[in-house]
Amino acid sequence: MNFQNRTAIVTGGTSGIGESTVRQLLEKGATVLVLGRNAEKGKQLEALGNCKFYSCDVADPASIESVCSKILEAHPTIDILVNNAGMSLDGTVESLTLEEWNRIFAVNVTSIYLMSKYIVPAMRKNGYGRIINIGSTAGTVGAWGLHAYSATKGAVIQLSKSMAAEYAKEGILVNCLCPGGTMTPLMEGIGANDLDDFAKLFPIGRLAQPDEIARTIVFLASEEASFMAGSTVLVDGGFTCI
Ligand SMILES: NC(=O)c1ccc[n+]([C@@H]2O[C@H](COP(=O)([O-])OP(=O)(O)OC[C@H]3O[C@@H](n4cnc5c(N)ncnc54)[C@H](O)[C@@H]3O)[C@@H](O)[C@H]2O)c1
Repeated sequence: MNFQNRTAIVTGGTSGIGESTVRQLLEKGATVLVLGRNAEKGKQLEALGNCKFYSCDVADPASIESVCSKILEAHPTIDILVNNAGMSLDGTVESLTLEEWNRIFAVNVTSIYLMSKYIVPAMRKNGYGRIINIGSTAGTVGAWGLHAYSATKGAVIQLSKSMAAEYAKEGILVNCLCPGGTMTPLMEGIGANDLDDFAKLFPIGRLAQPDEIARTIVFLASEEASFMAGSTVLVDGGFTCI
């Protein structure tokens, strides 16, 4: 896989799965535009070369619009969009506040709609694009105590299919990658014993490292994935097969 002359945007690219994706795309020759909130990490990634950090709060539509406009001015051709930024939130329909519910939908779903709204027209002009939206196993099966999170990820899967159907003919291939439990900052706050118990739910017997998820994101972003559109790709250590 060679990404020379390809420009990629990765949201939430300063940690976890997003950061691994940024690093792997850079290693393979892409120019990578990182959207996120951690400017210090952004600088470290910029130091790798061919990388530019843009401060962006994806929960804020104005922030997305202004960053996309800056990006398109500097890079009229965008080949790859990885909609990775996301948050998790414990809670049931009874315990979640409306504010929490709206917040997680803004971060996990509306940000994908808005990023795509601004970037797809540039891809259409060029007749080429790869969009990888990050879902979750929690969007394919129910999840105890994660009602809003699993609802957002179900929405990401369905949005990805509709976008794929819309744009595949124009050379823009949209797929949704659903990771299983992965050792990233999203897992912070879960105690070691609980993590061990969680890992037992995976037939593979452990949680993933972010690089293991990023490798499949990079594949979907490449020309190797030339016949994939609207797929829900589970990289979950077998979690959903039992
Ligand atoms: N870690 C897992 O077990 C797991 C499992 C399934 C799906 N996912 C999904 O993978 C994606 C990446 O998560 P991760 O596990 O690498 O965790 P992470 O916390 O390291 O990454 C999430 C990134 O999104 C960014 N982000 C969150 N809210 C933002 C906002 N308002 N504005 C800008 N950036 C924002 C964070 O700063 C962070 O960089 C998420 O969409 C997550 O839902 C993770």
